[in-house]
Amino acid sequence: MIDYRTLRIALLGAGSVGSQVATLLLEHSDELAQRVGARLVLSGIAVRDLETDRGPGVPRELLTTDAEELIVGSDIVIELMGGITPAREYILLALRSGADVITGNKALLATHGPELFDLAQQVGAQLYYEAAVGGAIPIIRPLRDSLAGDRVQRILGIVNGTTNYILDRMDRGGDDLESALAAATELGYAEADPTGDIEGYDAAQKAAILAGLAFHTTVPIASVYREGITGVRAEDVEAARKAGYVVKLLAICERITDPETGSEGVSARVYPALIPRDHPLAAVRGANNAVFVEAEAAGSLMFYGAGAGGRETASAVLGDLVSAARRHVIGGPGVAESTQADLPVFDIGKVSTRYRVSLSVADRPGVLAQIARIFSDHGVSVEAVEQSVPNAPSAGIDAAERRSGVEGTATLVIGTHTATEAALSATVAALAGSESVVAVQSVLRVEGE
Ligand code: NDP
Ligand code: HSE
Repeated sequence: MIDYRTLRIALLGAGSVGSQVATLLLEHSDELAQRVGARLVLSGIAVRDLETDRGPGVPRELLTTDAEELIVGSDIVIELMGGITPAREYILLALRSGADVITGNKALLATHGPELFDLAQQVGAQLYYEAAVGGAIPIIRPLRDSLAGDRVQRILGIVNGTTNYILDRMDRGGDDLESALAAATELGYAEADPTGDIEGYDAAQKAAILAGLAFHTTVPIASVYREGITGVRAEDVEAARKAGYVVKLLAICERITDPETGSEGVSARVYPALIPRDHPLAAVRGANNAVFVEAEAAGSLMFYGAGAGGRETASAVLGDLVSAARRHVIGGPGVAESTQADLPVFDIGKVSTRYRVSLSVADRPGVLAQIARIFSDHGVSVEAVEQSVPNAPSAGIDAAERRSGVEGTATLVIGTHTATEAALSATVAALAGSESVVAVQSVLRVEGE
């Protein structure tokens, strides 16, 4: 039997992911020792409540409520508590104590990443975070290492399982948002408070992390444009399907050029978008995640799999653990964060894409010409117009209809050529103020063409 040296591993958190990390670490102890060249000894697991039953894989005698005592003296600290406080303080303490740190905490990285990476660099420690984006899917390491010699142009990511499940259900089953969300909650995908998922905050945190890595630039969470899926109607999903698209909540990280100055910058944004049904991302069903990367030399790559789940995410954490442990055995500087490109992060107004604008309009002669005029006045070129059968006059004619002196309305869906967000939002404001427009029902961007 080989007499391996030992590395002390501190685990902070034994919830969905932490309990699986502990279980797998203990189960595969011999195999991991052979792979690493050192025995990984789980020295303790910090939790809040010592009485909670965490299953047979989590030995009670390892539990402690004294996280700080556990951290100091450890070689590697795995933070799986989530949240900002005290996770941030514990990670800072771990780094200052000379430990490498592994975390899956996207909220913390998206808000305090630079502080943590700076300290790690100062003290010569490593910060690993494969689990923070896409759960089990390897995407951090490919962006940081495998594609380090290439130039990433764009990332389109389905990085939130809850919203993908909801939109997929709306697409396949014709559900409305409320019933799809209720199903997601029942299956345990959505949190008790699903705001972070359906309003796009979770995806925005992941977009900030991916954009920073892809473009070697610090991307603050405040500079990520965000729209959630709460405005997506069953009718939009149905119309998209008929037009050959599927609606997905996308995290988009893109190298773009300032339309006014021609200078290079980046955009990070999250919104529900239409993607062609033959795009690889359209096949990402249920609560799965996928990250589609377009790089100058590598071309298009897609990373696909389980974006969440305790055991699945534990796989990513253990991969980081093996990397960190090997560095302790072999030595060397390890991987460094790279932000040297320092590109400006552009406002959403500078982004260009195509759009489909759905309008309820007065059904009378001349309306189409007026609407086309509004688009052209704002420099937005119309590509296609679809008009549905006019809506029958209803008993409850609303104020806008009375204003336009008509009894019926029709639905117009206007597809545009590529235009900037600034031009499109000015167009939408003008449409909303037009007497011919009863309501701007939805505006969806078209991506992935
Ligand atoms: P859970 O809420 O299931 O578990 C959190 C754990 O941290 C619990 O064991 C809790 O203890 C412990 N904890 C919380 N605060 C403290 C504290 N102040 N002191 C000591 N222990 C504390 O979280 P998850 O396992 O779901 O997530 C962990 C991290 O992984 C998060 O950052 C999350 O974003 C990330 N992640 C999660 C994924 C998933 O599928 N769940 C997927 C990808 C990333 P106690 O049990 O006693 O309350
Ligand atoms: N709430 C997240 C999701 C969990 O639905 O994808 C993984 O980050």
